[in-house]
Amino acid sequence: MSLNLSCKFLEGFVSADEINAVSKEAASAYELVKSGKGEGSDFLGWFDLPENYDREEFARIKAASEKIKKSSDILVVIGIGGSYLGARAAIEFVKSPLYNNLKKDTPDIYFAGNNISTTALCELLSICEGKDISVNVISKSGTTTEPAVAFRVFKQLLIDKYGVDGARDRIFVTTDKCRGTLKKFSDEAGYETFVVPDNVGGRYSVLTAVGLLPIACAGIDIDEMMLGAKNAMNDYSSSDLLKNDAVKYAALRNVLARGGKVTEILVGYEPYMVMLNEWWKQLYGESEGKDNKGIFPSSVVFSTDLHSLGQYIQEGQRNLFETVINVKNPGAKFVIPNDEANVDGLNFISGKELDYVNKTAMLATLIAHNDGGVPNILIELEDRSAYTFGYLVYFFELACAVSGYMLGVNPFNQPGVEAYKKNMFALLGKPGYEDMKAELDKRISKN
Ligand code: PA5
Repeated sequence: MSLNLSCKFLEGFVSADEINAVSKEAASAYELVKSGKGEGSDFLGWFDLPENYDREEFARIKAASEKIKKSSDILVVIGIGGSYLGARAAIEFVKSPLYNNLKKDTPDIYFAGNNISTTALCELLSICEGKDISVNVISKSGTTTEPAVAFRVFKQLLIDKYGVDGARDRIFVTTDKCRGTLKKFSDEAGYETFVVPDNVGGRYSVLTAVGLLPIACAGIDIDEMMLGAKNAMNDYSSSDLLKNDAVKYAALRNVLARGGKVTEILVGYEPYMVMLNEWWKQLYGESEGKDNKGIFPSSVVFSTDLHSLGQYIQEGQRNLFETVINVKNPGAKFVIPNDEANVDGLNFISGKELDYVNKTAMLATLIAHNDGGVPNILIELEDRSAYTFGYLVYFFELACAVSGYMLGVNPFNQPGVEAYKKNMFALLGKPGYEDMKAELDKRISKN
């Protein structure tokens, strides 16, 4: 197994009896996922996806990525939420957060349409000047404001630069199979399309075309990624938490939350985990945060954030627990040099590998946070390969679904996301929202 779940830093916080006490409940939650009898079961397509994905489309994804790699200096990936976080997490985790700055024979990849920032859009447009560009727009609904605005802009840019026919070769659309407006429009325009399966929600979609096309464009081996996910699917096929670490992780989170630890912090020790953290926060936040329930997902990257949030975690409100991801093999080697002057007094670690110091910082922090009253779940990964990423994705997706059912929520819907959209449409004057606009304008104009 390329993932090990350790409970050694939960000692004194979660007892064997407490784990035993929820094991049946966790098993039932797992069975609900597996049998498709739970709430939201229309969205269980991710469950056996690593085995049952569309091979024909997978081959088209690879072919499209080769075409993009050959013809483009820049790939602009347009999407928001589940339509971009997974791809960005994979590229940063497997390649680098500095991917665009690396020497490479694959295109730079920029993400657009995940905000409404004028600055961000204008900066990207200026980066694109004089470059050969392809675009992958990803939107299941096809009507989400942020990516729709960005797609208008980049579609026109490509048409102006390459003409209607040339642009057609450079626009790749990932959307709903047949219902969405983007599908209809793309078919009419002749753009190549890929599918967000009906039964896979955005935040569970990284192993579909949503994530796989941009990931493949970054030169990451998507066969390996799917293999990792498939092996995880096989490894996590028992309902018994003693034999299934994904079920165990779900159970531990619920035990901790019921004891008042209602904020979970996902901790990494590598900057390449920042976007993995963001992907994980969406997965757990949107899946669990409803009906006035849920464990609040937050994240840090240490040791960086030990110098910002470390104080709070050590001594602030005691409603936290941490889930620490330790990547065992750093994939590179760097030895700390000796310095004759020894002004910083650090010659006692000269000659040691930097990763040894990083791992020691992790152990020191685990113990300090335990001593400060913060339970820690430890997830150990072998490496940062595509295979391990796929394995980890499946682990977290399954655990999230099981955990959501244990919490008593539907882990596959996101009704709360609509509230801001309705208000925004009303305030922007969308036809049909006139009454709402009048009411909101009154509220805004109050002193
Ligand atoms: O997880 C989700 O369902 C959401 O984050 C969506 O991915 C996000 O809102 C974007 O939606 P769409 O792909 O329809 O543009």
